[in-house]
Amino acid sequence: MERQERIAVLSVTSECVPLVKTGGLADVAGALPGALAPLGVEMRTLLPGYPKVKARVTGKEVGAWPMFGGTARVLEADHEGLHLYILDAPHLFDREGAIYTGPDGEDWPDNPERFAALSLAAALIATEGVGGWQPELVHLHDWQAGLTPVYLRQRGASAKTVMTVHNIAFQGMASADHVEKLHLPPEDFTQGGYEFWGQVSALKAGLTYADKITTVSPTYARELMTPEFGMGLDGLLQHREGDLSGILNGIDLDVWGAPYKTARGKAKHKAALRKEFDLPDWDGPLCTVVSRLTSQKGLDVLLDALPVLTDNGGQMILLGSGDPTLEAAWKARAEEHPGVAVFIGYDEALSHRLIAGADAILVPSRFEPCGLTQLYGLSHGTLPVVALTGGLADTVIPLTPATEVKGVATGFQFTPVSAHALAGALRQVVETYRDTALWAQMQKNAMAHPVGWETSAKAYAALYQDLIHA
Ligand code: ADP
Ligand code: GLC
Repeated sequence: MERQERIAVLSVTSECVPLVKTGGLADVAGALPGALAPLGVEMRTLLPGYPKVKARVTGKEVGAWPMFGGTARVLEADHEGLHLYILDAPHLFDREGAIYTGPDGEDWPDNPERFAALSLAAALIATEGVGGWQPELVHLHDWQAGLTPVYLRQRGASAKTVMTVHNIAFQGMASADHVEKLHLPPEDFTQGGYEFWGQVSALKAGLTYADKITTVSPTYARELMTPEFGMGLDGLLQHREGDLSGILNGIDLDVWGAPYKTARGKAKHKAALRKEFDLPDWDGPLCTVVSRLTSQKGLDVLLDALPVLTDNGGQMILLGSGDPTLEAAWKARAEEHPGVAVFIGYDEALSHRLIAGADAILVPSRFEPCGLTQLYGLSHGTLPVVALTGGLADTVIPLTPATEVKGVATGFQFTPVSAHALAGALRQVVETYRDTALWAQMQKNAMAHPVGWETSAKAYAALYQDLIHA
């Protein structure tokens, strides 16, 4: 057997399971190191020292630098299979509230400094090493890590960089005076550099200067190069097309493997859910949504289309939180309709019960870089009903006359994201559910669909190898 060289990679992320999560980025950052370890990649993770991180992990100090008005220390720790560097900067991260927003729901005004510090720490670790370890490559996640290549260039460092776009809607914008405040090179505050609409964009910095760019599905990689999805960065991404690729997210099967193997198992979970949510025992499909409530997710459109499901024996349980207007509209619907139940909040255990017990999971997103809940659905035989976009398009095989003949369908798809098109898909769900043999066949297909990390971890490892040996 060929001897494999171990590659040292620093993953830079603002959230990471099991310590801190607002969305799928945390799942991905938490799962990648374990998926890459058998492939000769030693991935360590740099994460801000938010109070809830420091409450659970005590590390050993291995570095300290002055950073934006205080001292930032690096604490090294092992935690549940992760090798962590925690950036302990109390003036930036020790505060009550959510990780990106304050008690008023607005972004923390010093978010530019907070995540510039994360990026600067990554660059310093890659330049100087820390506690006797130095990465050859730095893997950056979203805008929060986007300034890293700028700080690396300033220091003439040789570490390679990969930037992953999980969501281009968040661009890390900061007013122009941040060129100075964040100690950025003024000569690169240009259209060809990190300047965007007269401001600093941490995301654009990463997209401009990282050696390679990835995003979390092949379809989203193509969509990003179009004006419809690129959110102003499509031109830059077209320019970098040769360095851009899409690598699908996987899910952690230790956490999201199906808890049952038989239809009876599912029926038990479903009955328990109906009891918990006080839903009548109708004979139509029980559908669910587990989601942030933002315009990205299309749940306003679902409210308009929902009667096709709930007036035809189907039921709906939504778990989510976010936009207050959407929260109120869903709560109102639950009060009006006996077939609709809503839980506003964030609840990991409930998300498992819902995905285990429902017949179908709905993901009507306007755009979706990858999406994880449709993958959880597949692994549980909970058929996904998805918009034809991004990773949703890449992971679900829709029921059509052709896929029915071939016996390969795993779910339902619709386009565009309109109440009319979604209602059509919901009608198809209601009708297909009555065909118990077809539904059972689709569940079997769904559960056989590979959703783990194996293939994608190999793609990341190959990308790192290519860059390091280029
Ligand atoms: P995004 O990152 O855009 O929010 P993903 O589908 O990639 O979308 O990831 C969302 C993750 O957050 C999934 O793991 C999902 O189960 C979880 N999640 C979202 N909302 C909730 C909630 N209200 N309660 C529990 N888990 C949630
Ligand atoms: C983003 C995207 C989601 C993706 C997740 C993890 O938050 O909205 O589609 O699955 O990141 O990559």
